[in-house]
Amino acid sequence: MFVFLFCSSPHHFFHTGPSRSVVNRDNVEWTEEQEASAKKKVLENSQPLPSEKQEEYDCRANEYWNDFYTIHENRFFKDRHWLFTEFPELAPQCSLNHESQEQRREAAAVSHTDGDIPGTSATYRILEVGCGVGNTVFPILKTNNDPGLFVYCCDFSSTAVELVKSNPEYDPERCFAFVHDLSDVEANYPVPDGTLDVIVLIFVLSALHPDKMQASISRLARLLKPGGVMLLRDYGRYDMAQLRFKKGRCLSENFYVRGDGTRVYFFTQDELHEMFTEAGLEKVQNLVDRRLQVNRGKQLTMYRVWIQCKYRKALHQPAETQG
Ligand SMILES: C[S@@+](CC[C@H](N)C(=O)[O-])C[C@H]1O[C@@H](n2cnc3c(N)ncnc32)[C@H](O)[C@@H]1O
Repeated sequence: MFVFLFCSSPHHFFHTGPSRSVVNRDNVEWTEEQEASAKKKVLENSQPLPSEKQEEYDCRANEYWNDFYTIHENRFFKDRHWLFTEFPELAPQCSLNHESQEQRREAAAVSHTDGDIPGTSATYRILEVGCGVGNTVFPILKTNNDPGLFVYCCDFSSTAVELVKSNPEYDPERCFAFVHDLSDVEANYPVPDGTLDVIVLIFVLSALHPDKMQASISRLARLLKPGGVMLLRDYGRYDMAQLRFKKGRCLSENFYVRGDGTRVYFFTQDELHEMFTEAGLEKVQNLVDRRLQVNRGKQLTMYRVWIQCKYRKALHQPAETQG
């Protein structure tokens, strides 16, 4: 008999690659009873923590993530095996399609770090926000050999950014890592508006306070070129990680704090669609990935729910209306 998983660390099964004894079943349909039981469980655990506690978790959010990376360094999150299949925009063929042969040759001939702004002469610019220790950035740099590629990456944890920079694969000619708080919409990015081809958000938007999400996405959307895309993969509503939160961990509806002080929100597809379209982007993809993971060795059954989105900035922007 299999046991439904409620293990002690909510980070524990966080997109680590499945081990050999784990069997994955994709596109699992949930029964009505299963959905109703998940809803009931969430309702039973929806008493929010007092506001002083909430404020403390918000003000000190980056300290909690710094502590997380001080403890785990680069051992926690694993490189994503699904990265290039789900997001071919990060792979070389896609970036090479964008510019002419000539532009790419020119780009390859000059240093991408000329001038004050790194990557100015690049022809395909990717920004990863909430990059952690580089589990997305380094696979991109390794796999994508487009000479015109430049990868920016940021995180509000200075400990994580230091780990990225001290990685032997960090190449300042092709990459620039910096500390940046996504929710600080007044803070400047090191790239001008309208210059990025791709923005990647992998399990980061869920770490923000829900009240700050819309402004953060709208700010990021300004950085995209016309035709540029925002790619997101994040936690979906009733993911196993949501259902196993103990009482006393709820901050607001579908938003929780883990034992280590880091926070997590569980999205619906509609909420994300609203947010991206409000930021002026058009839907390319918005799907829910419901998966059943069975760990035979430990006799555990885990229902995972992730949401994956691609939203594009229109090639032709509507003219700004006056006053
Ligand atoms: C769950 S981890 C995911 C890390 C990385 N994207 C990955 O998949 O390995 C969430 C990351 O978001 C970062 N983060 C959380 N809130 C942030 C914010 N407001 N601004 C920038 N980064 C943030 C954390 O420091 C952490 O590195």
